[in-house]
Amino acid sequence: MTAPFIDLGVHHKPAGMSDRVALGFTKVLRWTADTFFAERYGHRAVVLETVAAVPGMVGATINHLACLRRMCDDKGWIKTLMDEAENERMHLMTFIEISQPTRFERAVIIGVQWIFYLCFFALYLVSSKTAHRVVGYFEEEAVISYTHYLAEIDEGRSPNVPAPEIAKKYWDLPAEATLRDVVLVVRADEAHHRDVNHGFANELAGLPVGPVADCPPHVTLEPNWKKAA
Ligand SMILES: [Fe+2]
Ligand SMILES: [Fe+2]
Repeated sequence: MTAPFIDLGVHHKPAGMSDRVALGFTKVLRWTADTFFAERYGHRAVVLETVAAVPGMVGATINHLACLRRMCDDKGWIKTLMDEAENERMHLMTFIEISQPTRFERAVIIGVQWIFYLCFFALYLVSSKTAHRVVGYFEEEAVISYTHYLAEIDEGRSPNVPAPEIAKKYWDLPAEATLRDVVLVVRADEAHHRDVNHGFANELAGLPVGPVADCPPHVTLEPNWKKAA
């Protein structure tokens, strides 16, 4: 399988207080994750994907409500953010086949979801620009983490097990695909979210919107009434 091309070096240089707050918050969370998980990349992926799937749904909800109140068009933001949330949930459903969280990690996931959902919702209401910048920086870190995970696999510290069936179906991977192939498409998804969210923050700040990395092709998840038909 050819690796999807992504620019690993993308970094939005913070400009102004809002960006500095977003970057500082991201660095604190990065340090916490590094301390908590160390090199346990499978566990790290499962726990962090439960968090990564939250902002898209919060942003979609708040934009949806704002469009209803203002009776205006959303310029495609709502579907973009809902697709991001769905894509992150598929990352979680994939990595749960690779690593099972411990009981302690499951408790952490529940606590973190309460705190993160409420804090991110409040942040988005106060400053959607800062909220999208936070996600842009989170995704920069996700690209770095999955690059480290690839090195773990390539250097034999994490076994390159066969790709889970759910991942093969979702990204239409070949039958012989492995965990390495999965990490490559997941990392490309994160680069796409990174550019989309920095782009949204730039648009809200009145700055030029940069190029967006392609999202690797994946199947469309169908509503359950269609599946039943
Ligand atoms: Fe993800
Ligand atoms: Fe992500």
